[in-house]
Amino acid sequence: MRLVIGISGASGVVLGYELLRALRGAGIETHLVVTEAAVRTLDCETSLRLEDLTALADAHYDPRDMAAAIASGSFPTDGMIVMPCSMKTLAGIVSGYADNLLLRAADVCLKEGRKLALVPRETPLSRVHLRNMADAAALGCTIIPPMLTFYGDADTVEKQIAHIVGKVLSQFGIPFEGGMKWTGKNQ
Ligand SMILES: Cc1cc2nc3c(=O)[nH]c(=O)nc-3n(C[C@H](O)[C@H](O)[C@H](O)COP(=O)(O)O)c2cc1C
Repeated sequence: MRLVIGISGASGVVLGYELLRALRGAGIETHLVVTEAAVRTLDCETSLRLEDLTALADAHYDPRDMAAAIASGSFPTDGMIVMPCSMKTLAGIVSGYADNLLLRAADVCLKEGRKLALVPRETPLSRVHLRNMADAAALGCTIIPPMLTFYGDADTVEKQIAHIVGKVLSQFGIPFEGGMKWTGKNQ
C-alpha cells in the first residue's frame, strides 16, 4: 500500500509524526508533504525538527514543488491522509484552490476517486469551518477530528494520540495495536 501524507499547520503536528511512525511500523509506503506553516507549528509546539518527520517517510517533497510525483494522477496511490488538517487547508481542498503541493495532491485524490481522510483541528469551529467540513464529506472525504476519548483507560495524551492514529488507520484497513477498541461492557 502506498499513501500520501499531508501535514499542515494546525495545532497537533505531533499527530502527523505519530501517524508516520505507525505507518512505518506497518510497512506502508509513505509520500510526505509538510506545509511551511506546519514547520512553524512544529517549532512552536514540539522539540521535533522537519528532518524527524521526513526521516520516517519513504519520500518527501517540498510543498512548492508542483512537479513532484504526487502532483499527478498518473502516480498511483491508495489515497491520502491530511493530519492535522488546518482550516486553511480544508478550505483549499473543498474549493479546489490547489496552490501548494499538499492541496494539489488532495485535489488529485478527489479527481481520481481515491480515499482522502482529513483530521481537521480547530476549536471552536465557525460556520465557515463547519460548512467546509460538510462540503468535504459531501465530496467523499472522511472527516476524523481528533476528539478526546474517555474509554479504554485513555488517561494520557500519548494514549489519546494513539487512539486517533488507530481511528485513521482503520479507515484504510491497517491494523494498529496502539488504538483502543470497545469490546462491550457486561451489565
Ligand atoms: C502554534 C500554532 C497553532 C495553530 N493552530 C491552528 C489550528 O489548530 N487550526 C488551524 O486551522 N490553524 C492553526 N494555526 C494557523 C495555521 O498555521 C495557518 O492558518 C496557516 O496559514 C495554515 O497553512 P497551511 O494550511 O498551508 O498549513 C496555528 C498556527 C500556529 C503558529
